[in-house]
Amino acid sequence: MTDTLAAFLDTLDADIRARADWGAVASYIPELARIDPAQFAISVALADGQVLNAGDSETRFSIQSVSKVFSLACVLARIGEGLWRRVGREPSGDRFDSILLLEQEQGRPRNPFINAGALVTTDELLAGRAPREALSEIIGFVRASAGDDDIHIDRAVAESEKATGYRNVALANYLKSYGNLVNAPDLVLGTYFHQCAIEMTTRQLALAGRGIAGLPGAPFLLNGVKRRRIAALMMTCGHYDGSGDFAFRTGLPGKSGVGGGILIAVPGRASVAIWSPGLNAWGNSKCGTEAAERLARFTGWSVF
Ligand code: DON
Repeated sequence: MTDTLAAFLDTLDADIRARADWGAVASYIPELARIDPAQFAISVALADGQVLNAGDSETRFSIQSVSKVFSLACVLARIGEGLWRRVGREPSGDRFDSILLLEQEQGRPRNPFINAGALVTTDELLAGRAPREALSEIIGFVRASAGDDDIHIDRAVAESEKATGYRNVALANYLKSYGNLVNAPDLVLGTYFHQCAIEMTTRQLALAGRGIAGLPGAPFLLNGVKRRRIAALMMTCGHYDGSGDFAFRTGLPGKSGVGGGILIAVPGRASVAIWSPGLNAWGNSKCGTEAAERLARFTGWSVF
């Protein structure tokens, strides 16, 4: 299986590069607008400990909303189920940065992966501490999960979003007005922008996802119930208003980021990281989604 999968990944890489229909990079974060869309990488960490890579798998990219999986994992590991008093677990059907439902639902975001829900999760993570401490907890979790200390925050990306992230500023203030932020909005926003600016290669990200996929031998940071909850939310909400389409096409729990990354947990079998920075209409990686669909078809890894 490993040899045929490795050959498949190389073919996938070649096919995607041959098509030159990459989608457009995110332009609302100036540092991300400068990235060349014509890039692709895929890494698959398998249950036997092997990691297969193809394409630009040693290029670091901004994981952006994929970080919401790790902040959620840290919060569930520390405070557990209390988070659900403040955040729901239903898909929103709206864009990742939408404010619409927040007024109708009295400041309780639909799920931890839309921006409003991620801000509340980061607020929980802060728990009255300095942003530096909360960020060390997330970075520490990611490094320990990947077994790799060479994972860092790209400060230029964080500053770039801080300078232009007016919609997140609006969301944080709106949450605060409903009493659903404990910490000051600027502290939550600063922490959130920095967690989104973690940069990694697909190889590192696939390794970091092993705990969520429950691979044997992965660092034991999450128990089975927490892994299942996170994977269920990835399946139903991980691609925002494109979550149904991603589930339909792959049958796999995945979490996207506007930097073009996708983390996929194949329970008990594999942790997959895909990156291609051009996006589709939902703000998810265009070629990354196509690659995920082809991988699911080739491997039969759909959970259904
Ligand atoms: O908050 C934002 O808008 C970005 N830091 C992250 C959004 C994101 O990655 C959405 N994913 N596709």
